[in-house]
Amino acid sequence: MKVTVIGAGNVGATVAECVARKDMANEVVLIDIVEGLPQGKALDLAEAAPIHGFDTTVVGTNDYADTANSDICVITAGLARKPGMSRDDLLAKNAAIVKSVTEQFVAHSPNSIIIVVSNPLDVMTYVAYMASGFPSNRVMGMAGVLDTARYRAFLSMELGVSVRDIQALLMGGHGDTMVPLPRYTTIGGIAVTELIDSETLDSIVARTKTGGGEIVKLMGTSAWYAPGAAAAEMVEAIIKNSGRVLPCAAWCTGQYGLNDLFIGVPCKLGTTGIEEIIEVDLDDDEIAQMNVSAEHVRTNLANLERLQAAG
Ligand code: LAC
Repeated sequence: MKVTVIGAGNVGATVAECVARKDMANEVVLIDIVEGLPQGKALDLAEAAPIHGFDTTVVGTNDYADTANSDICVITAGLARKPGMSRDDLLAKNAAIVKSVTEQFVAHSPNSIIIVVSNPLDVMTYVAYMASGFPSNRVMGMAGVLDTARYRAFLSMELGVSVRDIQALLMGGHGDTMVPLPRYTTIGGIAVTELIDSETLDSIVARTKTGGGEIVKLMGTSAWYAPGAAAAEMVEAIIKNSGRVLPCAAWCTGQYGLNDLFIGVPCKLGTTGIEEIIEVDLDDDEIAQMNVSAEHVRTNLANLERLQAAG
């Protein structure tokens, strides 16, 4: 198994580290346009191998020929948010970057699976889908695993219970309109509403929705530990064909009444990528929230088309 990570910034390097440390691939290739950066980070990571005890070969490069015949690619290239910016402010610049890196990558790995992490996530996944020409099961976005992890972390902090016993579902776009679903949240099999009052739960849901922004505000740039680990979890699910059910930005063809856009929905992952989009029952309020989130993604898609038409 060969995994390429495009973009050797903080998120890309963390994806490479998580994939290597779990020894889930034979080779991880870290590629970036900046000369020296991927080589330096790859060498540093390879030098950590004897300590962590992993055998994954780590390669840093500026040349897409070195990514040839990858099984999976994680795209993290692009600008990150600065304080005061929304993910949507990155639209035009990151669309050009994601399109270019996707084209260069797929020329060498036509049978791979692409996981997009660049923001604004749902639209960048669409850009990679169009640029790759791949079937929709082989292109997906990483957001739901991250957003659900934040939600589970906040619940764990509030309840003082192990994160491992918190199961949750979160859907929608990767933005402040995302849809955490308390009705599908359990603590060791117990409905979360049995253990937490609705006011506290509401505040945790609200904090989850702006969880990315909370970190940007604290340190002046966006997060990487949780985003990197989240993307690596998807890589592992695909490599191991474990049938894991994870929320991913997937191409919807009528599921949840949504068509022709990438948005976060529960997916079963396996060696072919997205093997199934799972449709759960949503109540009227949850459907309304999904529709607001989908509208937000559509607005971004329309903005992108407008920008592209304007050249
Ligand atoms: C975040 C970025 C990765 O949510 O979108 O932290």
